Amino acid sequence: MSLIDKAVAALTPPESERERRRARREAQDIAAAGSWFAMILDHHEQIEAAFDALEKAGSAAQRRAAQKWLAIILTGHSIAEEAVIYPAMASHSEKAGAEMAYQEQSAAKGEVAALEELDPLSEDYRDKLAHIRGAVAHHMYEEESRRFPKLQERADAATRARLRRRYEEEFKRYVGGDTQAGVMKAAQEARSH
Ligand SMILES: [Fe+2]
Repeated sequence: MSLIDKAVAALTPPESERERRRARREAQDIAAAGSWFAMILDHHEQIEAAFDALEKAGSAAQRRAAQKWLAIILTGHSIAEEAVIYPAMASHSEKAGAEMAYQEQSAAKGEVAALEELDPLSEDYRDKLAHIRGAVAHHMYEEESRRFPKLQERADAATRARLRRRYEEEFKRYVGGDTQAGVMKAAQEARSH
């Protein structure tokens, strides 16, 4: 871990795992079934599953495959939020929160790309992965506990319906409609590089 990584990690607000789980449950309670918010919560869970798979992967090849899928789902999810959800936050609920969210996601993209340059079995790789996971977990906590409940409350029914349609459209444009097929394709791509 570089000195800068350590400094950033030290600054990350330390909400506990328990607080994160509580925020997730409360968000699931208020997100209407089939809504934009429910779809995002589902994708947040899939991102956590992708981190789990990467942490559990034993060999370098398995790590590269799991890392590829993590990068794809994180990028697809963040592109859809950046194209659809954060602009809506800026116009309906909170501009400062939207700007912060963009910054957090661009930092995460940089860190995920940096993983590609590290030996997947090295300690540096494990440190960077843990740092990325912590930063992404905090980002999701902010969205689930504050930013998105506020947007859901402020947006009218027509806006909420548009967010649902547009978020899904942008996510699928990058990730595709079938995430299981996406996992397999990512593994194939990782093998051929
Ligand atoms: Fe998100």
